[in-house]
Amino acid sequence: MTYSRIAGTGGYLPEKVLTNKDLEAMVDTTDDWIRERTGIRKRHVVSDGETTCDLAEKAARLAMEAAGKTPADIDLIVLATTTPDKNFPSTACLLQQRLDIHGSAAFDVQAVCTGFVYALGIADKFVRTGSARCALVVGAESISRIIDWTDRGTSVLFGDGAGAVVLEASDEPGILSSHLHADGAYEELLHAPLDDYLQMKGNEVFRMAVNTLGRIVDETLEANNMQKSDVDWLVPHQANIRIIQATARKLNMSMDHVVVTVAEHGNTSAASVPLALDAAVRDGRIKRGDTLLMEAFGGGFTWGSLLARY
Ligand code: UT7
Repeated sequence: MTYSRIAGTGGYLPEKVLTNKDLEAMVDTTDDWIRERTGIRKRHVVSDGETTCDLAEKAARLAMEAAGKTPADIDLIVLATTTPDKNFPSTACLLQQRLDIHGSAAFDVQAVCTGFVYALGIADKFVRTGSARCALVVGAESISRIIDWTDRGTSVLFGDGAGAVVLEASDEPGILSSHLHADGAYEELLHAPLDDYLQMKGNEVFRMAVNTLGRIVDETLEANNMQKSDVDWLVPHQANIRIIQATARKLNMSMDHVVVTVAEHGNTSAASVPLALDAAVRDGRIKRGDTLLMEAFGGGFTWGSLLARY
């Protein structure tokens, strides 16, 4: 039986930083409100001319280096983004060009904040079925481009960044299960019309996110015949510290076992789960053999989870 396992991770945040203090000068908000209601201290945003693919390339190179892989090893690129460089080609193809990879399958996945969970779930199925042996899976966003910087309901929450994982075929798991869902009926609560800014009914999204993520924790554990105590690390989507705390409570998990990076970069949409994963792998918290639960919720609505043995 073939499984896929995470061989290496990478993450990148653009250099330009916007602090809560900076935002106080732009909209009617305060550093205290943002920290108390969201847990966010700062966010990184792209500079003029810097694109999603630029961020993706930096994260991807770091992940390949960590995995000990060269571009020639990669036979699949799946890139999750809501903010592609162009209508087409896909940002996955642009990244493929940057990395000098030729002939592999390469495509984008659009599931907004759940994008990386979708992308990793898809890549896992390619590897398990023998259609790929070494996949580059990226979540990358320059979401600041679609933010209305005069809207305090959204501008304080989001930021740019990229995270990446190299997934390789293995006799041992690996990704244990993936659970992907969507319900398009909720379009109006969180959406970005073409040529318009991101719009969100934050309060309603918040309530749906907490309830839905609670349910997906149960679904994921049941599918694997596991108990809450079997999970070593929760690697959640980083939208709001209060949503993350609610999911941790659902797992009876102390916050010491939850990877939290939201303070450093806010909600980076598809980049947030791989950025958190990379942070905890690189600082040594997540070790080989640990059981990880990754989850996300976002526009669509979309939501999903992955259980993995690192
Ligand atoms: O990735 C998935 C998608 N996104 C999310 O998961 C985000 C989900 N939503 C949230 O994180 C939260 O709902 C927000 C952070 C957006 C808002 O927090 P909240 O606790 O739900 O606040 P609220 O919308 O209920 O507003 C509370 C108060 C209101 O004032 P009044 O009516 O009580 O006087 C708002 O006008 O806070 C006010 N407010 C602000 N004050 C200062 C709203 N935004 C701000 C702000 N600064 N930026």
